[in-house]
Amino acid sequence: MPNEVTLKVNNQEFQLPVIMGTEGEKAIDVRNLRRDTGCITFDEGYGNTGSCESRITFIDGEEGVLRYRGYPIEELAGKSDFVEVAYLVIYGELPTKEQRNVFTQNLTKHSSVHERMLFLFESYPRDAHPMAILSAMVNSLGCYYPHLATNDHDRDLGNFNEASATAISKVRTIAAVSYRMSQGLPIIHPNAKLPYCENFMHMMFSNPYDPFECPKVVSDALNLILVLHADHEQNCSTSTVRMVASSGANLFASTAAGICALWGPLHGGANQAVIQMLEEIHADSDDGTRFIEAAKGGKARLMGFGHRVYKNYDPRAKIIGKACDRVLGQMGREDPLLDIARRLEEAALNDPYFVERKLYPNVDFYSGIIMRAIGIPMNMFTVMFAIGRMPGWVANWKEVAESAKGRIYRPRQIYTGALKRDYVPIAKRA
Ligand code: CMC
Repeated sequence: MPNEVTLKVNNQEFQLPVIMGTEGEKAIDVRNLRRDTGCITFDEGYGNTGSCESRITFIDGEEGVLRYRGYPIEELAGKSDFVEVAYLVIYGELPTKEQRNVFTQNLTKHSSVHERMLFLFESYPRDAHPMAILSAMVNSLGCYYPHLATNDHDRDLGNFNEASATAISKVRTIAAVSYRMSQGLPIIHPNAKLPYCENFMHMMFSNPYDPFECPKVVSDALNLILVLHADHEQNCSTSTVRMVASSGANLFASTAAGICALWGPLHGGANQAVIQMLEEIHADSDDGTRFIEAAKGGKARLMGFGHRVYKNYDPRAKIIGKACDRVLGQMGREDPLLDIARRLEEAALNDPYFVERKLYPNVDFYSGIIMRAIGIPMNMFTVMFAIGRMPGWVANWKEVAESAKGRIYRPRQIYTGALKRDYVPIAKRA
C-alpha cells in the first residue's frame, strides 16, 4: 500500500496520506480535505469512517477476530474473569497480583451508593425501565461525587482510579437497587467479602433473612457474559461516550450517554428483543420457518442476527452459543427457546437471503438464554450488557481525555432543506 493516494477534484489532483494501524488496517487521511478541496466526505452511518486511533480493542470482522489489548477473546473467556479483564481493558496490561488486589479493594470500597441517592430511586414509577434509571443514576454520580466530575479533563484524570472504580462498581449496585425497588423488595447492600459477580447476585436476590448463595455455575456464567461484553471498539454506545467526552465532559456524564445509546434494540437492547422474539415464535407454535420468511420479506427483523463489522461469525456468539448448552446442562434446565434459537440459526445459515448478506448470529442471540437460566429478569438484560461494557467505556473516555491533540467531535452534514426565504407574518400564512 502506498503511503499516499491521489484524489482528483475538478481536474486538480490532491495527495492524501494513508495511515496504517498496527494490524495493517488502512485509512485515507482526509483531515485537510475540506480546506484543500471544499468537499467533505459523506458516510451516513459511518460504515467507512475511522473517528479515532485507539489502542484498546481490535476487530477483524471478515475473519471473526476480537482481541482486547492484543489478547484473543477466546483466551480471555476461557482463562480470565471480569475484574481482571476490566483492568486489562482500562490500563492496557493484565494486572500483577498486587495490582489486582489494589483494583479489587478499590471496587469494594466504592461499591455502595450514596444514601441520599436512594431517594432518587424512590421517585421512579415501579415499572420504569431499568435502563432509564441506570443512565440517570450514573449521570447523577457526578452530583454526589463532584470531585470526580469537574469537566476538566486534567483534574478528572488526576482522580481517574477512584472515578473508574466508582463507575465499574456502582453501576452494578445501581442496577441491583433499581431491580429491588421495582419489585418492592428491601435494598440489599453490597457485601465486601464477595467477588464482583457473586456480590451482584447477592444484591439482586438475597433477603435480609435469607442470603442468596450463588452457585459456581451461575457466577461463572455471569463472568463469561461480562467478559464478552467488556469492549467492542467504536460501536454506537462507545462512540457516543467518546463524542460526549470530546467536549470535556466528565466520566459519569459520558458513560451515562453511552447507556442511553446502548438501550436501543439495534444495539444492546437486542438481547431483550431476541427473547421477546423467541417467545412470540414459541407462542405462535412456529418452528421458526414463518418468522424467517417474514424477515426475508422485510416484515420482521431477525433480532440477534447481523452486525455492521462482523461479516463472518461473531466470535462472542460462538463462545456464548456453546456456553448455553453447558450452563443449562449443569443447572439441569431445559429451555424451549434454546431449541427455537438453534433451529432459527440453522435455517438462517442455510438460507441464501442470510448467506448473501453475511448475516450470522451476534452476541445478543444467545446471551438472553443464559441470563434467563441464571435468573436475570428480561428487562435487566440490557442492564447486564451495560455493566459488562462499563470498562470499555471507561477506557475509551480515558483515551479521549488523555489525548493531547484531541479535538471536539463535530461531524459535518450535507444540508438538503429549504433555501433562504423571507419571514412570513402569521396573518399571511396559508
Ligand atoms: N434480519 C433480517 N435482515 C437483516 C438483518 C436482520 N437481523 N440485519 C440486516 N439485515 C439485512 C438488511 O435488511 C439489509 O438488507 P438489504 O441489503 O436487502 O437492504 C442487509 O441485511 C444489510 O443490513 P444493514 O441494516 O445495512 O446492516 P447494518 O450494518 O446497518 O446493521 C445491525 C447492523 C446489527 C443493526 C442489523 O444487522 C440488525 O438490525 N440486527 C438485528 C439487531 C441486533 O441483533 N443488534 C445487535 C448487534 S450486536 C451487539 C451490539 O454490539 O450491539
